[in-house]
Amino acid sequence: MLDRALTTTARLRARLGSTAPPREQLIARHVAGRSFVDVGCMWSVDGALCFAAEDAGADSVTGVDLMGPSVRFTAERERRGSQVRFVQGDLHDPDIVLEIGRHDVVWCSGVLYHAPHPLLTLERLRELTAGTLLLATETVPETPGRPGTCVVAPGRREHPSAEPAGGPAQGYAPWYWGITPSALRTMLALSGFAVLEEHRTPLHVTVVARPAS
Ligand SMILES: C[S@@+](CC[C@H](N)C(=O)[O-])C[C@H]1O[C@@H](n2cnc3c(N)ncnc32)[C@H](O)[C@@H]1O
Repeated sequence: MLDRALTTTARLRARLGSTAPPREQLIARHVAGRSFVDVGCMWSVDGALCFAAEDAGADSVTGVDLMGPSVRFTAERERRGSQVRFVQGDLHDPDIVLEIGRHDVVWCSGVLYHAPHPLLTLERLRELTAGTLLLATETVPETPGRPGTCVVAPGRREHPSAEPAGGPAQGYAPWYWGITPSALRTMLALSGFAVLEEHRTPLHVTVVARPAS
């Protein structure tokens, strides 16, 4: 039975394409000698991807989040003598976009489905991206016969981790959108990105994209 389950998973993976390389590896592949920003760098990761970029030879590193710097982030920055710059603010705020500035490599993971207006979120990421966007997001399965579908306030039926939105007072914590991979591709194109690589698992996508010329 286990064999059959593993074979089914392997077949599914083959059909969907490769899984993403570990995120530190993906970042290391792109950042040497380049400027790097992690948008949404704090919750549960405490700036770890910023430090990974620094270790991989990034020229300059910025972390951005609505949350203030965590105790773990501050301690690790201190321990390393790290030069990571932290900007606290909302990616959707044009003044914050100006403060962050354009970067060669933009990493943004786990943010898009928490955004009420994901096209606006992608447009802001486009403004920040001088070279490469590395975007990771949870996704929901395609709707047969209806490519480009998104589900508003998805529930556990669409994704086992979904925390459905309950209204504006909840800020960016809930899941506003269940985004299918085909909808993500269309939204990236609409906001000015060309996708170079797409790594998929059944409920997650990581893309490497660049500004469309
Ligand atoms: C689900 S966590 C993902 C954390 C990490 N990037 C990861 O992939 O594990 C989302 C993070 O993005 C931040 N965030 C969400 N919306 C944001 C926004 N509009 N501007 C800046 N940060 C945001 C949250 O505060 C939180 O730290």
